[in-house]
Amino acid sequence: MSGKPRILTGDTPTGRLHLGHWVGSVKRRVELQHTHDCYFIVANYHAFTTRSERSAEIRSDCLEIVRDYLAMGIDPDAATVFLQSEIPAIHELCFLFAMLLPFNRVMRNPTLKDEIKVKDLGETYSFGFPLYAVGQCSDILSFRPVGVPVGEDQVPHLEMTREVARRFNQVYCGVDEHAEDHDHAKLGGVFPVPRAEVGKVGRLVGIDGKNKMSKSLGNAIFISDPPKEVEKKVMKIFTGRQSPTEPGDVNNALFQYVEAFIPDAARVAELKDRYARGDNIGDGHVKKELAACLNDLLEPMRKRRAQFEGRDDLILDILRKGCARANETAEATLEAARKACNLHFFPRSIGYR
Ligand code: TRP
Repeated sequence: MSGKPRILTGDTPTGRLHLGHWVGSVKRRVELQHTHDCYFIVANYHAFTTRSERSAEIRSDCLEIVRDYLAMGIDPDAATVFLQSEIPAIHELCFLFAMLLPFNRVMRNPTLKDEIKVKDLGETYSFGFPLYAVGQCSDILSFRPVGVPVGEDQVPHLEMTREVARRFNQVYCGVDEHAEDHDHAKLGGVFPVPRAEVGKVGRLVGIDGKNKMSKSLGNAIFISDPPKEVEKKVMKIFTGRQSPTEPGDVNNALFQYVEAFIPDAARVAELKDRYARGDNIGDGHVKKELAACLNDLLEPMRKRRAQFEGRDDLILDILRKGCARANETAEATLEAARKACNLHFFPRSIGYR
C-alpha cells in the first residue's frame, strides 16, 4: 500500500445501490483502487441520524452495500472496506474536533441545512443530527488522506474538514495560522488538509425523467435488477416525445442515459443526430439499444454478486479484515493526536476476538 497517495470516501448505507451510485462514485473508485491507497467507509452510524429505531435494517443494509461494492468490482484486497462503527478512533477524534468548531459554524453548513429542509426535520432533529457533520470530518481525518472523491453535495463537509484540520494543527501542533495548506504536515501538523475531488459526472436522472435517481423516489435501476426488470424500467424512461418523426430533445432523460451507458461514441453521435432531426427513430428503438448496453454492463456485476448471494459469512470476513486494517491506520492517527493534546496516558491496541 505504501507510496500510493491515500484517499478516503464512502456512503451511508441505505439499501441496494443503483446506477446513480455507479455513475456518480463507485465507477471512479474501481478505477482508483489500484493506483491509490483506498479507504472506503460504510458510514453506519450516520444512518442512525434518521433511522435510529430501525437498527436491524441498518445492519442488513451494511452487508447489502458491501455485496453491491463487490459486484461492481471493488477489490477488497486492493481497497480497505470498513464499518464506521468498528473504528473507535473516529468517535474519539470527533469529540476533540467538536470542541474546535463553533456551534454556529456547524449549523451554517449548507449540506446540513439542506437536509433539514429536504427531510422536513424542522425543529425535531436530534442533538446527534448536526454532530454527524463533525463525525464526517473525523471519518476523513482519522485516515489522513490527501484527497476525498465526493459528489458536489459533500463539498461543504470537506470545507469543514479542512477548517478543523487547520485549527487542530494550529492549536495543538504549533503550526502558524498563515501556513499554506500543503505545508501543514511538513510543519508538524498531525493532519493534512485534504482536498475534495469532485468528479465530472454529476447526478443521474431517474427513470421518471425528473428527479435524481434515488431508491426512495422509486425511479431507480438497481445494480442487482435482473435483465427483464432493466428492460422494463428502461421502457418507462419518460421523455414526452410523441412520434419517431418528431424532432427529439437530445438533452432529455433518455439521452442522458444514452450518453452515460452506450460505450460506442460514434454510435451515440449517430443516435443523437437522427433523434434531433426526427429521422424516423422512435424512443422504443433507442431504449432497446440502451437496455442491451445496460445489461452488458450489469451482467458481470450480476455474476460477481451471485458468489456472495446468501453468503453473509463471506461479507463479514471481508469487513473484518477491512476493519482490522482501518483500525491500524486510525489508531496511529489517534495516538499522534492524543500526544499533541497531552492525552497520551496509556498505549493501547485494538484486536478482534
Ligand atoms: N455523508 C456521505 C453521504 O451521505 C457519506 C460519508 C460518510 C462520507 N463519511 C464520509 C463520504 C467520509 C466521504 C467521506 O454520501
